[in-house]
Parts: sequence; structure tokens; C-alpha cells
Amino acid sequence: MVASWKDDLTVGVPFMDAEHAGLISTLTELGELVNGTSSEDTNPLAQLPRSTAVRIQLSRLRVEIGIHFSHEEQVMRSCGYPLIVRHTTKHTKFMDELDRMTSRFTTGEEDIAERVVRFVQVWFARHTRDCDTQLSAWLLANHPTVTI
Ligand SMILES: [Fe+2]
Ligand SMILES: [Fe+2]
Repeated sequence: MVASWKDDLTVGVPFMDAEHAGLISTLTELGELVNGTSSEDTNPLAQLPRSTAVRIQLSRLRVEIGIHFSHEEQVMRSCGYPLIVRHTTKHTKFMDELDRMTSRFTTGEEDIAERVVRFVQVWFARHTRDCDTQLSAWLLANHPTVTI
């Protein structure tokens, strides 16, 4: 499911594509831990109780997303991207919602994990096709060698 997004989510700016691929991989692992299909051979977290493994992976995902957003925002600022406020607001609202859902999981509402995975999948695909594609098109036209 998540892995099949890879090709059509390519935006053409190398640091963005590399970080998006990493996020998809972390999210895929989270989905597998949530639905019990991860293998101990490929993911050591699968040896832990499900709720512990999911909590650890959720925390990894949160950290990776935070780093990715801060990289995009850093580039938008340094290049003078005209739509920075709109884009950054989307990041902030997403993080608020992810944190709200994650805290429900950590306070015992374990059924919410599946919804978190779906929420991130849907948001990420939409955001990449909309805001990130707009950003990458602008960067490729105005700052084609940009990196972080
Ligand atoms: Fe992105
Ligand atoms: Fe973004």
C-alpha cells in the first residue's frame, strides 16, 4: 500500500525525494507493526509487545517528519519562497493533529494507531502532490541546485 506511492510522489528536488522516501519507509514499518505483519527478521521492534513497538515507531516517525518539515522550511526561508506562510501553516496544523492523535495512543487508546497510519498516508500524499510539488517546481525554476 504505502510503498506503491513512491513513484508518483517524486517531486524532482533530491533532498525532498530522499526524505520523503525515508518517511514512507518509516510509515510502512509503522503500518506493519500496527497490523501485526512485521517480521522479526527485518524489524527488531517486532520482538517487543505491540503497544511498545508502535509507540517507539510513532515517536521515530514524529521526529523524522519534524526534521523534514524544518528542512523544507529552512530552504523556503533562505530562497525567499513566496508561498512560505501557506506551506508552513499546513505543516504546523498537521503536526498539531499528529501530536493529538499520538497522545491518545500513549494514554491507552490503542485502537487509534490504525487511524494515525491512515491519516499520515492520506495527508502526506495530498501534501506532496499539492504544496511540495508547488515548492519543488518553484525551486527547480529559481534555485535548481538548492540543497540542505
Ligand atoms: Fe515534504
Ligand atoms: Fe511540505
